[in-house]
Amino acid sequence: TGYITIDSGYKNTGATKSAITFLDGEEGILRYRGYPIEQLAEQSSFLEVAYLLIYGTLPTQAELDNFSHQITKHTLVHEDVRKIFDGFPSAAHPMAILSSLICSLTAFYPESVSPDLSKEEIDLNVIRLMAKISTIAAWTYKNNMGHPLNYPRNDLDYCSNFLYMMFSFPTEKYEIDPRIVSALNKLLILHADHEQNCSTSTVRLVGSANASLYGSVSAGINALWGPLHGGANQEVLEMLQAIQKDGGDTSKFIAKAKDKNDPFRLMGFGHRVYKNFDPRAKIIKKAADDVLSALGINDPLLKIAQELEQAALTDEYFIERKLYPNVDFYSGIIYRAIGIPTEMFTVMFALGRLPGWIAQWKEMRENKEPIGRPRQVYTGELERDYVGIEQR
Ligand code: CMC
Repeated sequence: TGYITIDSGYKNTGATKSAITFLDGEEGILRYRGYPIEQLAEQSSFLEVAYLLIYGTLPTQAELDNFSHQITKHTLVHEDVRKIFDGFPSAAHPMAILSSLICSLTAFYPESVSPDLSKEEIDLNVIRLMAKISTIAAWTYKNNMGHPLNYPRNDLDYCSNFLYMMFSFPTEKYEIDPRIVSALNKLLILHADHEQNCSTSTVRLVGSANASLYGSVSAGINALWGPLHGGANQEVLEMLQAIQKDGGDTSKFIAKAKDKNDPFRLMGFGHRVYKNFDPRAKIIKKAADDVLSALGINDPLLKIAQELEQAALTDEYFIERKLYPNVDFYSGIIYRAIGIPTEMFTVMFALGRLPGWIAQWKEMRENKEPIGRPRQVYTGELERDYVGIEQR
C-alpha cells in the first residue's frame, strides 16, 4: 500500500534472500554455495554439483553414491509418456516437448501437487525429476529424428547414459568417448545455477503459489526458451552460420548490432549482471578450444566466433555498454562438436539448470516465502460508464 516504485525488469529489486549462488557482476565472480565455479568446473562432477546446490554441502562418497544410485534407479519414464510423443508434430521444437512432458509428470505422480509433502516425499520428486529429464530430453531428439527411442542404461553414469540415449542405435555398438563425457559434464556444471535469473525467478514465483515442483520447473523451462535467455545459445549458432553463409564478414554484423534502427543484437553478448566478464564464458571458451583440438575438429564457426568477439571487444559501442561474451557465446560450438543439433541447445541448458531450479524452489518453500505478487502503477482510463453496443 502507499508508495509504489516501478522497476521494470527488476534491475534493482531483490526478490528474495538466498544462500545458494553468489554472483559479483563487477568482478566476474560466480560461486555455488561458496565454491568458485572455476574449481567446480575443473574438479567436480555434475551430480556432485547438483547435490551441493540442492542440499547445501558437498556430499561424502556415501552420500554421492546414494544420490547417484537413486537417480539411476528412476531414469525410466512411464510407458504412456512414449504415447504422448505421438501427439506432437514431428517437427515440434524440443523445448515445447520438454516443458510439456515435465509438466505431465504431475499427471503421472498426482501426489506431487500436494502443498504438504514431507521432506522424504520432496526428495523423491527431486530424484525423479533429475532422473527423468535426461530420458525425456534424449527422447525428444530421437523422436524428432524418427529414430527408435533408447531406454536408459543403469550401468552408466549420468552424462554417459544421456549420450548413450541420444546417440546410440540398437543396431550397432555405441562407444562412449570419455572426452565428450568430460566436456558435457563441464557444460552442465557451468549452467547449473545462476541466482535469480528469469527462469529461476519464474520457478520461484510459480512455486510460491504452492504449485508443484514439476509444474514450477516446466514454467521455468518455458522462460528459458526465450531468445533473450537460454534460447540465445541456439540463436548464437544460427547467427554464426548466417555470417558464414554471408561470406564471413563479421564487421557487417557488428554494424547491424550497433544500429539502433535494426532489432538485431549480437547474440551471446551482454548480460544483466556481468559488467566486466562472464566467468563461465572464459571457461567455455577454453573448453571449446580443448574439445575441438582433442576431437580433431576444425570448425570454421569457431574462427568466426573468435573474430566476432575480438571485433566487439575493441569496439567503442560494446566497450561503453560493457557488453562481453556470455555463457551462450561459445557453448554451441562445443555442443556442435559433440554432435548435439542446434535445436537441442536450449534443452541442454535446461538439463544443466535443473539442479539450480530445484534448489531455488526448495529454498523458497523451506523459507516459507509468501506468494509472489508484484504491484503496479495503473495508467489506464479512470472510471467511465458502460455504453451499449449499439451506441458505440
Ligand atoms: N548486441 C547489441 N547491443 C546490445 C546487446 C547485444 N547483444 N546487449 C545489450 N545491448 C545494448 C542495448 O541495446 C542497450 O543499448 P542503449 O543503452 O544504447 O539502449 C544497452 O546495450 C543495454 O542493454 P539492455 O538491453 O538494457 O540490457 P539488459 O540488461 O536489459 O539485457 C541481455 C541483457 C542479456 C538481455 C542483453 O544483453 C541481450 O539481449 N543480449 C543478447 C541475448 C543473449 O545473449 N542472452 C543470453 C544472456 S546470458 C545467459 C542467459 O540468461 O541465458
